[in-house]
Amino acid sequence: MDYKRYLITAALPYANGPVHIGHLAGCYLPADIYARYQRAQKRDVKFVCGSDEHGVPITIRAMKEGITPQDVVDKYNTIIKDSFAAMGISFDIYSRTSNAIHHDTSQAFFTKLFNDGVFEERESEQYYDASKDIFLADRYILGTCPVCGNENAYGDQCERCGSTLSPEQLLNPRSALSSAVPIKKKTKHWYFPLDKYEPWLKEWIVDGKKDSWKPNVYGQCKSWLDSGLQPRAMTRDSNWGVPVPLADAKGKVLYVWFDAPIGYISATKELTNQWSDYWCKEDTKLVHFIGKDNIVFHCIIFPAMLKAHGGFVLPDNVPANEFLNIEGEKVSTSRNWAVWVNEYITDFPDQQDTLRYVLCSNAPETKDNDFTWKDFQDRTNNELVSIFGNFINRTFVLMHKLCNGKVPPVKDELINDADRQLAEEIKNAKTKVENCLENYKFRDGLFEVIDLARKGNKYLQDNAPWSLSKTPEIQLLNQGRIDICLHLCLQLTANLSILINPFLPFTAGKMIKMMKVVDRILDWENAGKINLLKIGYSLRAPELLFRKIEDTEVAEQVEKLRNNLKQATSQKMEQNTPPVAAEAAPQPKPEEALAAPAQKPEITIDDFSKMDLRVGTILKAEKVEKADKLLKLELDMGNEIRTVVSGIALHFKPEEIIGKQVTVVANLAPRKMRGIESRGMILMAQNGDGRLIFVSPLEVADNGSEVR
Ligand code: 2FM
Ligand code: ZN
Repeated sequence: MDYKRYLITAALPYANGPVHIGHLAGCYLPADIYARYQRAQKRDVKFVCGSDEHGVPITIRAMKEGITPQDVVDKYNTIIKDSFAAMGISFDIYSRTSNAIHHDTSQAFFTKLFNDGVFEERESEQYYDASKDIFLADRYILGTCPVCGNENAYGDQCERCGSTLSPEQLLNPRSALSSAVPIKKKTKHWYFPLDKYEPWLKEWIVDGKKDSWKPNVYGQCKSWLDSGLQPRAMTRDSNWGVPVPLADAKGKVLYVWFDAPIGYISATKELTNQWSDYWCKEDTKLVHFIGKDNIVFHCIIFPAMLKAHGGFVLPDNVPANEFLNIEGEKVSTSRNWAVWVNEYITDFPDQQDTLRYVLCSNAPETKDNDFTWKDFQDRTNNELVSIFGNFINRTFVLMHKLCNGKVPPVKDELINDADRQLAEEIKNAKTKVENCLENYKFRDGLFEVIDLARKGNKYLQDNAPWSLSKTPEIQLLNQGRIDICLHLCLQLTANLSILINPFLPFTAGKMIKMMKVVDRILDWENAGKINLLKIGYSLRAPELLFRKIEDTEVAEQVEKLRNNLKQATSQKMEQNTPPVAAEAAPQPKPEEALAAPAQKPEITIDDFSKMDLRVGTILKAEKVEKADKLLKLELDMGNEIRTVVSGIALHFKPEEIIGKQVTVVANLAPRKMRGIESRGMILMAQNGDGRLIFVSPLEVADNGSEVR
């Protein structure tokens, strides 16, 4: 389809806390790169977002802080909005679901479905916390996940295994507000019959999106559809949210996952009177950027709502990312294990592009990834500074020194094969980056840009204009080749500014200033051209694009994380609060978070040396039939492939662990488990909160190497 308009949405963050770098990497940065790229293509783009100000996460935060929900959303809406602006996330509008336009839009949507007889009205018994006089829906209720055994699963979702749940499915349910065991009480709600939309959803997703949606997104949708859809309540008993627009619905509000996605429509309405062009015309490409925990809502529930309403376009794609862990651990807001964007901006002023670079080059596009401050330093110093920054800087310094600060001329008869090859690489890079961006492969796209800069460095090194100008006489003899070399390097610089612009807009801005050219040069159609800078045009002195990250800065940030964790844990212990949940990660009980098991009796070095510990790489992992806890692993042990059965299935999905290096007790006596002979055992560390962590070498080691 030839699309005329691009409507790009980024998940509306709950205004219950600041955003952290996991949010940026998962959703906002890829969305921004995509929006900037489409704008550079001169396409008609609207990029919308805003604060999600309703739902349990807000009310729980208000209770925690002892303020009103309104205070919570006012406070965090500002912090979040400012963080996005500082990081260059270029929304066309950042709205709020508390705005009147949103209340009107979501109520009108509900009313239309109600009048069309879409909802089923049901009276049912629901969990109720008598001590707090409140119905326990969604995150007000905690319990054990029936799928993975996580004891802190929410009433709507288990964030460890990603299963979508209802409170009834939780084992050992407890109130998140008081820890009380809930009772059942009657209440009436309006249910959206997702089951009726199942055949249509199957056709639309399973048949229609197999090749275009990312495997992680498609796979999650398929498994949802395969296990059958159930009607879902679209209203809640609460006084915080959009009131249900019916006479007999006092004290009831719209379910936050009913109103929030409609927030994309309200934000577009607020942005432009032409909003319906973007939402209702078939030649609009609607793309939702989200994190993986939002897949079901954007791929199944919201499209079914749009379909039921009629008249709206459906998402063409939902390129959801996985999660970004920090220093090997899942982000946890209650344990303050996160890198907050507002704090980063204070600690690293003017280093927005450095973070954008690291988060994009390490984006969790296909699997959960890890952010470490050491990796932040390495990628910045070894890639951004040493490859990209270095090329631009050398080019400008040499051009000022050897070509009078002007774009030098080119004598055709002196052009050689290496020049022609570099010109070809410049042209090819445009196509390569474009293909990546059109297909939501942002990491690969950024890699191609850096690779082009790397080729520029090699070209400069091979031509070595400095050695052609050792004395004025030598320079005079070689000026023709020096000019061609720096001419091409300057044209490459102009190309790099265009290609890097969607990823690192602040850098592209500095580069066009140095080249004394107007913004228009950054139009995508200019990429691939080698006549962007006119011969004889004088350019400014170079400005350093990036700076190195020092060891001390890395150490300070790691220390800060550890201190935050210590503080958060000791605050919790002091307060001894019930496990109020308003975050993405499972919460350890405070006493568990610090406790380490008692030490075992002493052994001698001889006892230890009996163990043959070796490094191996997981080649294959699959579930063992009828054994919830077991995974059958195939390990590359250097000189052999061996099978190990490991009790880690409740902690890891098989596909997550392929390629991991692990430590294996290689001489453990073989043991049969469920009919499979297991030859060895892999070592795991167990956290206070029960999570398992692989004991892996910090650097890649040879498979089969001994651990001593
Ligand atoms: O997970 C979240 O942070 C939700 N507030 C995302 C909502 S996205 C959209 F539907 F509004
Ligand atoms: Zn689970």
